[in-house]
Amino acid sequence: MAIDFKEHIASVQDFPNKGIVFRDITPILQDGELYRAATHELAEYAKSRNADVIVGPEARGFIVGCPVATELGVGFVPARKPHKLPREVERASYDLEYGSNSLEMHKDAIKPGQRVVLCDDLLATAGTLRASKELIENLGGKLVGAAFYIELPDLKGREKLPDLDIYSLVQYHGA
Ligand code: PRP
Ligand code: MG
Repeated sequence: MAIDFKEHIASVQDFPNKGIVFRDITPILQDGELYRAATHELAEYAKSRNADVIVGPEARGFIVGCPVATELGVGFVPARKPHKLPREVERASYDLEYGSNSLEMHKDAIKPGQRVVLCDDLLATAGTLRASKELIENLGGKLVGAAFYIELPDLKGREKLPDLDIYSLVQYHGA
């Protein structure tokens, strides 16, 4: 029977700010079978998109994306927060649901023409996704899909990237 991942996501009111409901995936991660099952779902999706490489935005994108890459036997590229990567980088800025930040990738992280699938825990406003897409494309890669544990459709992230194929395990409507 299909797993209802929602049963294993904790909803925390007013975190990190008043009015925000934080969707906490750590109950999935701390259960080996659930983590493997969620990873497998995303890996099947990435395989269906013929991914050559997985990109994961720091920090939760590492947790979600790394096991997907190892299941598929493809590379993993971190999109890191500023000043963490030691070599020459490409940078893109974005607005978050709360606050703003930038992401960086090493300039040689993606080979021209590579098919990239992005993995992350949450699609909210798509600021992180859009900045990652900019980085991937500036390096010559092609973003062919994005896969998330959770999508918040009310924040209309999907509508900001109408040409991108987006997959999510669960969706939360309303607050
Ligand atoms: C969170 C989440 C997603 C992003 C989604 O990252 O992990 O990456 O916000 O929001 P968006 O679609 O509006 O961009 P955040 O940088 O807050 O924290 P993290 O370092 O724990 O991943
Ligand atoms: Mg994140």
